[in-house]
Amino acid sequence: MNRVTPPTSNPDHGVAQTVADAAERRWAVVVGAIIVALIAMMVVTGVHWSAMPPSRVETVDVKRLHLEGEFVESNLGTVLGDDGKVVVRLVAQQYSFEPQCIVVPAEMPVTFRATATDAIHGFVVGKTNANTMLIPGFVATFTTSFKTAGEQLMPCHEYCGTGHEAMWARVQVLEPQEFLAKAKGGERMSCVPR
Ligand code: CUA
Repeated sequence: MNRVTPPTSNPDHGVAQTVADAAERRWAVVVGAIIVALIAMMVVTGVHWSAMPPSRVETVDVKRLHLEGEFVESNLGTVLGDDGKVVVRLVAQQYSFEPQCIVVPAEMPVTFRATATDAIHGFVVGKTNANTMLIPGFVATFTTSFKTAGEQLMPCHEYCGTGHEAMWARVQVLEPQEFLAKAKGGERMSCVPR
């Protein structure tokens, strides 16, 4: 057999070529279908996400965070609203949370509203389901309730730089009556020692 002979000049090669062509067409259809499916997923998720934004789509101006609006220092901490809702506002920065000690009631819904100033941070409260990422420019919010009173640790759980492992806060979960007694008057509360 001569190497330069085109395969089709040999009857055996002709059969092999036909089989190969058929296999190639089959795989071309499979690959084409995968590409179409991927593009369809991109289009569907893109349209769906812009129509139904996820929870972190609420934005905040990082540069003005400390100067005005919801996340100024005097507005951070826990507050019992006139509507009876408990809201905790906090800010994460390299390498601490503000406030450093957060006070919440047990057995009551607590809404967290938090953001980050400089890098991606995150937190989880002890072994509870209070767990979120904090992304500069976005407000992370969720509502949870704590089953039992007691103290919990709240570490940063997104690697945010060299001080990451030293970044954590404390969470004091109070009995509801104790919390309500302290929260009267609508002041911002924390358990940071003064
Ligand atoms: Cu902040 Cu890790």
